[in-house]
Order: sequence, then C-alpha cells, then structure tokens
Amino acid sequence: MQFIINGGKKLEGEIKLAGAKNAATKMMVASILTGEECVLQNFPDIGDTRITQELCRSIGSEITQEGNVLRIKTPAVKNSKVSSFSRRNRIPILALGPLLARAGEAEIPILGGDKIGPRPVDIHIGALTAMGARIEVLPDRYAASAPAGLKGAKISLRYPSVGATENTILAAVLAKGRTVIQNAAIEPEITDLIKFLQKMGAIIELGANRVIYVDGVEKLGGAEHAILPDRNEAVSFACLAVATGGKIFAEDARQEDLITFLNTLRKIGGEYRPEPSGITFWRPVGAKLRPVKIETDTHPGFMTDWQQPTAVLLTQAEGTSSIHETVYEDRFGYASDLNLMGADIKVETKCLGELACRFRGKDFHHSATITGPRPLRAADLHVRDLRSGIAHVIAALIAGGRSTITGVEEIDRGYEKIDERLSRLGAEIERKN
Ligand code: EPU
Repeated sequence: MQFIINGGKKLEGEIKLAGAKNAATKMMVASILTGEECVLQNFPDIGDTRITQELCRSIGSEITQEGNVLRIKTPAVKNSKVSSFSRRNRIPILALGPLLARAGEAEIPILGGDKIGPRPVDIHIGALTAMGARIEVLPDRYAASAPAGLKGAKISLRYPSVGATENTILAAVLAKGRTVIQNAAIEPEITDLIKFLQKMGAIIELGANRVIYVDGVEKLGGAEHAILPDRNEAVSFACLAVATGGKIFAEDARQEDLITFLNTLRKIGGEYRPEPSGITFWRPVGAKLRPVKIETDTHPGFMTDWQQPTAVLLTQAEGTSSIHETVYEDRFGYASDLNLMGADIKVETKCLGELACRFRGKDFHHSATITGPRPLRAADLHVRDLRSGIAHVIAALIAGGRSTITGVEEIDRGYEKIDERLSRLGAEIERKN
C-alpha cells in the first residue's frame, strides 16, 4: 500500500482526533480481567487495535465494533497460550497479568513492534516475578505461571517504562494484597487506563513522586469508558498546520496533555489557541520559524513520539536546532530520508543536552542537529516505523512535487484513515495498492 502525495499546499480546516492508540489497546487487554462486558467509546479503527482484537479473540473474547464503539466480553479464557500469535505489536506481554489472574498460566510470543532500538522487557519480567510469577524466556515465547497466584509486592522500576508500569498495574489489580510501584510512568494514557480499571472496580492510588499504589480486589466487573484523544495525532496536525502555513482546528485536543509540546511550538514560532472543544494551531502571517533545543523524556517531558513531526517542522526554522532522544536508542532512522528530500540533519552519538541519559558514552546515534530553513523536494520513500512514517507524510505535504510513500500499513497502525482525513484539510493524497 502506498500514498501518492502532491505537496506544497496550505492545510486548513477541522480534524477530529481519534481515541489514543496507546490507551485503546491496553484497555482491550484490561477487559480480559473480567467476564463481564466492557464498552470502549472513541475507539480508534487502526491497525494496532485490529491486531489486538485478534489477540483477544484468540484468548476467548467476544467483540463487536460499531463505528467508534467497541464491545468486548471474555466470559471464559479459552486459550491462555497465544504464543503463535503474530509478532506485529508489543501488546501481548500486557496480557500476562490478566491471563495469570484468570487462568494461572500464559504463553505469549516474543514481541514485535517498531524497530527503534532493542526494546527489552526485563523490567516487565522483573515486576511480575516479584509478584510471584514464574517466567521462562524461550527462543520464540515467554511461558509464565503463577501456581500460588499473584501477590502484591513493592516494586521499584529501574526506568519509568510505560509498558512495564501498565503490566504491573494489570497484574496487581487482582493480586492478593498491596502493590507499590516506585518510579512508575505517569503518561496520560496510563492515567486513562487507571480510570477505566477504577470503573471496573479496582483500587489504584496515584501517589506523589511517581509512586502508584494498587490494592488487589477479589473481582472486577464490566465498565464503559470513553478513550482519551490521541496526543500524537494532535502533535502531528499541529506540525502540519505550522509547517504548511495553514490553520487546523484539532477537535478534542486537550491542553493539559500537551503542555510541553505547546511551549515548544510557541518557541518555534507556531501559535495555538485552546478552546473548550479542541485546539486551533496556525502559523502567524509572515512569521519566521526559530530553532529550538529539544530533549525527549517521559511524561510530563517532551514525548519521544513527538520528535519526528517536530523535526520536519524544524527543517523550516532559521538556524540550527537540536534533538536529544533519551527514551529510545535508535529513533533517527528517518533523518536520512529527510536529507534525501533536501533537509540538513546530522545524527550523532553525543548527548546534545543536559538530561541524564542512559545512552551517554555509548555508541547510539541518539542526538540530531537540524539546520534550516531548507526547501524540501519530493521523493520516493519507504516507511520505517509508525512515527517516522508520519514524518514522511508531513515532509511530502510540505515539499513541492509528487512524492510516493510505500509501506503505509505502518502508518495505518496508529493513524485512523489518515489519507481521507488529510484530504478534507486540502491535502492532495491518494492511496494506492
Ligand atoms: N525498556 C527497557 N526494559 C523494559 C521496558 C522498557 O529497557 O522492560 C526501555 C525501552 O527499551 C525504551 C524505554 O525503556 O528504551 C522506554 O520504553 P517503554 O516501556 O516506556 O515504552 P513502551 O511501553 O514499549 C510505549 C508506547 C510507545 C512510546 C513509549 C514511550 C505503546 C504500545 N507504545 O512503548 O509508542 O514511544 O511508550 O512513551 O504504548 C508509538 O506509539 O509509536 C510508540 C512507539
């Protein structure tokens, strides 16, 4: 599947954000903790939620989807060994807790997902093991059991991993006793998952200083929840509006989840106006864009998933910007694609910033300088991973001429019908087989 894009047009109009990919998939897995029906509204129709539906169905879930409402019910866990399930995303590991709680044993495949670094799962495994799970790492799968059931434990994560925090919470809600998670991740998608679990009957407290307390309960029930809007979509549309000199109203975008990005956007020279039902983004008439220094971080810092669209915007700023990626070791693969289009991006192993970084002194190309402004020209590109794919799309929409982007299934994993929605903003983008 490919996109043919004729760039160089201002994008203007309104676009409604889909529900967050990185909350929807986790809530589907959370629903396995009960035999009752759960209803997820604002449910995004994207590749990753389809993959996760396959996973849940193979476990025993009954699922129906009407528009953006998903109904999911798992009366019984029919199959807790889902290791033959395809390795297309990273969600199966989150099913370990729910499967251990309901079936006492589980097998899941070695994970897939974007190729943006080695992405180990030692923190997940450490936390579940501390709660009484026995986990064997086999060449093609993880085999887990909890003969005596899961028990609450005091767990200190060596890094505030999003997935490991979610995994620990999902395992703890039905475990015996209290689990204390120190150095937890606190992304808004995690808070949304906690809200959903609370509705299901869980007892979860958000303490100060990244501490989360979970008091295990006997049983959880069905719940209905509207998934929070996708922050990554909001950022992508904001960058598009400012980069093309247009104006986009992102319906449902929430200021409180985007504070760090909004500050960065204003420093660059873009503008925004939060309104009750969303945020309008635009580039003031005649405004020149300015360079900035960005360091990606865990929430509430500048999110790693925002650096790719922002980097494209910075190719249009006057001067040299820097991005220090402190979350993933290898997330600048797309830089060479943008350079092919005329950008001037240099990637290096040095830490270009002050944040404590796990990659300091190691041979990871995790910093970049971007010098602009550089007019971008059309190119033929192949998508490497989801977020770099959206960077390709934004770059092609800025560039003069006709670009071809192949492998757009990766973009479809996280952006709902992006071609149709961008067309409504005035983009010339066509999908072809
Ligand atoms: N890490 C470990 N060991 C672990 C777990 C993580 O070393 O056991 C490392 C990772 O290798 C990485 C860092 O910790 O360097 C952060 O990983 P984290 O666990 O926080 O990320 P994740 O849960 O795998 C989620 C999102 C990502 C997003 C990150 C950071 C999902 C499905 N994925 O991944 O989203 O970038 O949090 O916010 O929720 C995307 O949507 O394109 C995407 C990659």
